[in-house]
Amino acid sequence: MHTNEDTLGLLAQALREADAVVVMTGAGASAESGIPTFRDALEGYWSRYDPQQLATPQAFEADPALVTRWYDERRCKVLECDPNPGHEALAHLEELITGRGDRFTLVTQNVDRLHQRAGSREVVEVHGSLGEWRCTKTGQSYLDLPVPFPEYPPPSPAGGLLRPGVVWFGESLPPAAIERASSDSSACDVYLAVGTSGVVWPAAGLVLNAANNGALTVELNLDDTPMTEHFSHTLRGTAGELLPALLELLG
Ligand code: OAD
Repeated sequence: MHTNEDTLGLLAQALREADAVVVMTGAGASAESGIPTFRDALEGYWSRYDPQQLATPQAFEADPALVTRWYDERRCKVLECDPNPGHEALAHLEELITGRGDRFTLVTQNVDRLHQRAGSREVVEVHGSLGEWRCTKTGQSYLDLPVPFPEYPPPSPAGGLLRPGVVWFGESLPPAAIERASSDSSACDVYLAVGTSGVVWPAAGLVLNAANNGALTVELNLDDTPMTEHFSHTLRGTAGELLPALLELLG
């Protein structure tokens, strides 16, 4: 049984020697910024809803005002939050690894853009982003929209409705993002998953690609997940504490 200290040491050493590193993040990476994770119970008005039932094309079709209001409230909330020390540590890790000429890929299931705001340069968003909305009629994407929307559902300039640019249950992932995530995880020496419950595929399964390539695979989470057994090592604690500790070891 390794302690966190042992695993941090091992991971730091592997990162020093790695030619290619993949970090995958989930909602736990943003928890210390004050953004509730997906599997936290919804609060207040929204407590009567199940997020998995709001995050579907069927829910949007049945009640576009309700679904767009829910996403808009999340969009507003995210803009009030700041990146935490875990996000910052990952931005520094990218700088360190790409700065010496090696490859680093940050794959995120998060739609909050906090990695980009912390300074991460190349972020592969496999579940889209709350900052981008799409017209249901033309498919055109819009950025820099009013915050919050003045009405729900927000009309698009082309006559359709605006829907959030996130991936809903039952929809395909953006092909370029998932291809990149899949090929980079299949070719990495170190794979680190941070704050993800490992229940939503295909993101959860990327660790298997890395393990097949013989990578050191580390799961950083508060608790065990259904994917824990597929990782060679675990770190138990918060991203906001463990990632800065890792960077400190790397110097
Ligand atoms: P979840 O909400 O399912 O899981 C968050 C995970 O982070 C849990 O395993 C927690 O134990 C862990 N966690 C919480 N706080 C943490 C902290 N401070 N440090 C480290 N770990 C912490 O979020 P995701 O795994 O991201 O999909 O969810 C995956 C996908 O399911 C989401 O992208 C979303 C959702 O439905 C779509 O919208 C398509």
